[in-house]
Amino acid sequence: MNVLIAYASKTGTTAKCAKILKALVDDATLCDLTKEKPDLSQYNCVIVGGSIRMGALHKASKNFILRNKETLMRKKCAFFTCNCFTGQTDMYMKKNIPGELLKKAIATGSFGGEIPLEAQKGFDKLIMKLVAKRGTRSENAKLHTSSEAINKFAEKIR
Ligand SMILES: Cc1cc2nc3c(=O)[nH]c(=O)nc-3n(C[C@H](O)[C@H](O)[C@H](O)COP(=O)(O)O)c2cc1C
Repeated sequence: MNVLIAYASKTGTTAKCAKILKALVDDATLCDLTKEKPDLSQYNCVIVGGSIRMGALHKASKNFILRNKETLMRKKCAFFTCNCFTGQTDMYMKKNIPGELLKKAIATGSFGGEIPLEAQKGFDKLIMKLVAKRGTRSENAKLHTSSEAINKFAEKIR
């Protein structure tokens, strides 16, 4: 099975998780949606990942999904997010990805999130500090990515 892992990342977490996932899935190709437009005709399975900020999926991932909705409906597809409040993942998925695609997806889930304060600037840095502060108090928040979550997701793809 030819698998495309198309992702968009702002500060590197989603890119890192996409690479880990690629190593766990046979015949997988990575595509950074902020730089390239993939040719979907070459793939039987398309995985789309992106980070969540203020409840919104990375614009490049969201636009890619919406632009290719009909094509994705005809293929095996799966979706992952990188985000800190993993308890909110279902809500983020429903808000950002068409319901028909989520219904037919072979895997969906969050790989957790990271708070690299040094990678943030200005307003984002302020928000990041608030997310980190809330995260340390919240049972639902993950301030690290989860290799277990990536493994489970990869198992479903295989
Ligand atoms: C400005 C900002 C807003 C964020 N908003 C959310 C959010 O609404 N929900 C959430 O779960 N995580 C949120 N996060 C955490 C990110 O999803 C997390 O840092 C993720 O690892 C970023 O992935 P990336 O490095 O691939 O961009 C936010 C982070 C920043 C900097």
